[in-house]
Amino acid sequence: MAQVPAWLTRTVMYEIYPQSFADSDGDGIGDLRGITQRLDYLAWLGIDSIWLNPCFASPMRDAGYDVSDYLSIAPRYGTNEDLSALVEQAGGRGIRVLLDLVAGHTSDQHPWFLAARDDPSDDRYIFASQESSPGDLWVASPGRRPGWYLPNFFAFQPALNFGYARMNPAEPWRQPVDAPGPRTNRAALAQIMAHWLDLGVAGFRVDLASTLVKDDPGWHETARLWRELRGWLDRAYPDAVLMSEWDSPGVAVPAGFHADFYLAIGPEHGSLLNNGAGLGVPGGQPAEPCYFSSEGTGSVEAFLTAWRRDAAAAGDAGLIALFSSDHDFSRPACGERTADQLGPVFAFLLTWPTLPGIHCGDEIGMRFLPDLPDVEGSQIWPGWNRAGSRTPMQWDDSPGAGFSAAAAARLYLPIDPDPGRPTIAAQRADEASLLHQVRQLIELRKAVPALRTGGPVDVLNAGYPLVYTRGGTHLVVINPRLEAASFDLRWARPAGPLGPLAADGVSVDGAHVRAAGFSYGIFEL
Ligand code: BGC
Repeated sequence: MAQVPAWLTRTVMYEIYPQSFADSDGDGIGDLRGITQRLDYLAWLGIDSIWLNPCFASPMRDAGYDVSDYLSIAPRYGTNEDLSALVEQAGGRGIRVLLDLVAGHTSDQHPWFLAARDDPSDDRYIFASQESSPGDLWVASPGRRPGWYLPNFFAFQPALNFGYARMNPAEPWRQPVDAPGPRTNRAALAQIMAHWLDLGVAGFRVDLASTLVKDDPGWHETARLWRELRGWLDRAYPDAVLMSEWDSPGVAVPAGFHADFYLAIGPEHGSLLNNGAGLGVPGGQPAEPCYFSSEGTGSVEAFLTAWRRDAAAAGDAGLIALFSSDHDFSRPACGERTADQLGPVFAFLLTWPTLPGIHCGDEIGMRFLPDLPDVEGSQIWPGWNRAGSRTPMQWDDSPGAGFSAAAAARLYLPIDPDPGRPTIAAQRADEASLLHQVRQLIELRKAVPALRTGGPVDVLNAGYPLVYTRGGTHLVVINPRLEAASFDLRWARPAGPLGPLAADGVSVDGAHVRAAGFSYGIFEL
């Protein structure tokens, strides 16, 4: 496999939830022209790539992750020409645009499925023709075709047939990965990618990338599928990238992805930021308090162990993406962790060797909003309503928050009703704001090669404060708790203070590091 394109190793990415970002036509839902109009803001912030959640034609029962036409922009977001214009305008500002490839399933309204549900010989999806359901997950065929189909996520998202890794005589619907249906679907993925790459996009975040081949222990066949597509991409579009939603870089990078996303759940990656106050945790509360918490009772060790393991497994072949949050998980400002505690969170994200990303609105500390309605499948089950991380961008103090001119009742989701809610306008005007801190941290990461993605890190203290060096030349101190913390460097330094490159509440005097509550500091040694 070809090397990771250099731009991906240097980028600071930004996730745009299109329906919530900026509404240019006043219908209450964000759109592509709205995004184009806000590109100057992103350029000012230092963002040089954006990942758009699905913006393709869709019945929107899973907010666009139920695609009914992969090759057309959903009318509510605009047209394919609007995407072209966005890509061009972004490119003019040095910003690349990535799309979301929903590879494992379509909407049950996709023409492929509408054909398959009536035709027993159609093999684009996984159908079992027997009378009784083959299992709990299967859904009764809605068409003239008898039997059941296998969904991939919600019931209305039928799994595309990429074959099974193992045959089973008791399950005669299983097809091998190189059967005609699976081969057709594989080819379709390349066609979809080529369609948008030809328009100028820089790559794709691949939704549920691990789910394509069924009954695939160790993901060997799924990996072969992605490596085949990666081989094609390397030849046809060498500067384009594939980033997987897999949450297992040790598997996903060898499978051909340029980068894999860590998700904010589970005992390892969830141990950084998941305080259980927002979306909770499937199956209960986090086993341990998270590290970024005011009590300071968490540990960063589980994350470090996982990261060391995964970074070693990925090697030079690919990267690990760590975002502030995303459209599926709680924002960092969630529950008791308020916006004024987020400086250290961003200082960590923007000085750690992972590929950093920001979910739109996190840079001003927009909070996860509890108790929202279930909008477009945002609620997966009670207690897991993703709407709280999908509310409209808070651009300014106007009634529609600068997001939309529509009446409140027409907005995609309600705007945070807190009169003191953070806004981009207010924080841009305040040099001490979180937004300015984030901007400064991005600028620093770009200016100082030692702070960038990849490159060595040496953890000196994994408690409170977290202390590490990057490249042997830069010292980073992070204290995410309310109480002050201190640490003595193991090496002797001349007495006297060390001037920070960026700091809020951290000082280094000789070998002594002192960190106020909720503080961070970055120093050149
Ligand atoms: C996406 C979700 C979506 C699901 C089904 C996920 O990984 O991030 O938002 O609901 O896939 O496509």
